[in-house]
Amino acid sequence: MPTRRLMSTVQDPPRILITGSLGQLGTELARLLRSKYGRDNVIMSDIVKPTKEILESGPYIFTDILDFKGLQEAVVMHRVDWLIHFSALLSAVGEQAVPLAVRVNIEGTHNVLELAKQYSMKIFVPSTIGAFGPDSPRDPTPNVCIQRPKTIYGVSKVHAELMGEYYHERFGLDFRCLRFPGIISSDSNPGGGTTDYAVQIFHDALRTGQHTCYLRPDTRLPMMYIDDCLRALWEIMVAPEEQLKRRTYNVTAMSFSPAEIAEELRKHVPGLEVNYKPDQRQKIADSWPMVFDDSEARKDWGWSHKYDLAEMCRVMVSNIRKRPA
Ligand SMILES: NC(=O)c1ccc[n+]([C@@H]2O[C@H](COP(=O)([O-])OP(=O)(O)OC[C@H]3O[C@@H](n4cnc5c(N)ncnc54)[C@H](O)[C@@H]3O)[C@@H](O)[C@H]2O)c1
Repeated sequence: MPTRRLMSTVQDPPRILITGSLGQLGTELARLLRSKYGRDNVIMSDIVKPTKEILESGPYIFTDILDFKGLQEAVVMHRVDWLIHFSALLSAVGEQAVPLAVRVNIEGTHNVLELAKQYSMKIFVPSTIGAFGPDSPRDPTPNVCIQRPKTIYGVSKVHAELMGEYYHERFGLDFRCLRFPGIISSDSNPGGGTTDYAVQIFHDALRTGQHTCYLRPDTRLPMMYIDDCLRALWEIMVAPEEQLKRRTYNVTAMSFSPAEIAEELRKHVPGLEVNYKPDQRQKIADSWPMVFDDSEARKDWGWSHKYDLAEMCRVMVSNIRKRPA
């Protein structure tokens, strides 16, 4: 049986391991957490070869979440207190590789939950708007309602929510989970989800003035700017236990359609042309929430977004323009 950390004082900053940290969210989360807890207390991990900049930015280790022993060794040797579990195959990619998605998203989650239980770690597992399906109320989608998702991604995320809540009830595991909407970021690329167009449209608008969207113009989906997403994650991790009435919360900032973001973006790129060629992702989007009800997160632990559509577009355009061509 693993032994718990014997000596720790309340002043110690948490030692944090991020799995799947080279994806859209992980690199920026590492930056945020290192600014709060110190460079060496946040260990990035993934199965991907890191860039020189990543290696120079702080600790980085290879960790395949399907390798229980390897993960266990990482937790022990780095004295991990918080596990942020980002490794996953996202919605569109998952549909192209179902057996792998089952392994990474389900078996991988079993591994991290079991380790978190054995080593008394606090664990964060993100869920998604994709954990809902066509039978769920879509406008708005409340925190608790029927969940019958139609993608392997959604099925695996409902499984993660239920397993985490079960481990919390059964073993007292400090499991915390947020259902994120589509996340929009300028520094990191999206990893194959159904909301990726809302990032690509900025790059296309500023590079070529033209974007071809794989969704219909009226497809409304919940979204959030990355700074809000990462702040929500940090806020729920540090929220006092007694404020948490549940372990899985919806969070969101805005909802818009491709036509609406294009209209807002034309304030910055007046000649922007958008064509629509819906593909298989349309069917996924049509089964997801249009408006996300996050009132429970706002009430219980004070969640509040800072970026609406106009402000998000302004910041994205400004960040991408600042980059060298
Ligand atoms: N980005 C979004 O819009 C969004 C929205 C809702 C929820 N989420 C969730 O947030 C988390 C992070 O999302 P993201 O957008 O950064 O994803 P991403 O696809 O960009 O990154 C996922 C990472 O997981 C890694 N990975 C895959 N297989 C692995 C394995 N066997 N072992 C270790 N790592 C492995 C990949 O190499 C990749 O770097 C995911 O769990 C996702 O479901 C993201």
